[in-house]
Amino acid sequence: MNILVINGPNLNLLGTRETKIYGHESLDEIMTWLENSIEGLNHNFKFYQSNSEGDLINIMQDERQWAKGILINAGALSHYSYAIADTITSIKVPAIEIHLSNTDNREEFRKKSVLKDVCIKTIKGLGKHSYLEGLKYLENI
Ligand code: DQA
Repeated sequence: MNILVINGPNLNLLGTRETKIYGHESLDEIMTWLENSIEGLNHNFKFYQSNSEGDLINIMQDERQWAKGILINAGALSHYSYAIADTITSIKVPAIEIHLSNTDNREEFRKKSVLKDVCIKTIKGLGKHSYLEGLKYLENI
């Protein structure tokens, strides 16, 4: 399966950013781990990270024919980007909302996700394993 992995704002700082919450691994290390996992070896991946909402939208539009599934950690945009929610609805590629941290146990504003209803599943709070569990979910649909 062709899997598009989208990471949004500030996820490029993983490894140095709020390490008590997000851990010590960089985004590259986590993406490499995912790609080389037993499950990952069965799939083709494209990985993108951007701090810009428009870039994330353009990438999903551009890759909509290629991608058969999307894992998206939109970072803080998950909580308010109706534009990204509209993109996910419009391109009709099954998407899983991913979070490293458990956003339900953090600040109030993180409890709301505008992507929840347009994604087929949300997986959060498992650190890098959130991506892997998202991949497994995509495999089973
Ligand atoms: C995050 C949670 C978001 O609230 C936050 O803005 C992030 C990372 C996570 O992976 O836990 O940037 O999406």
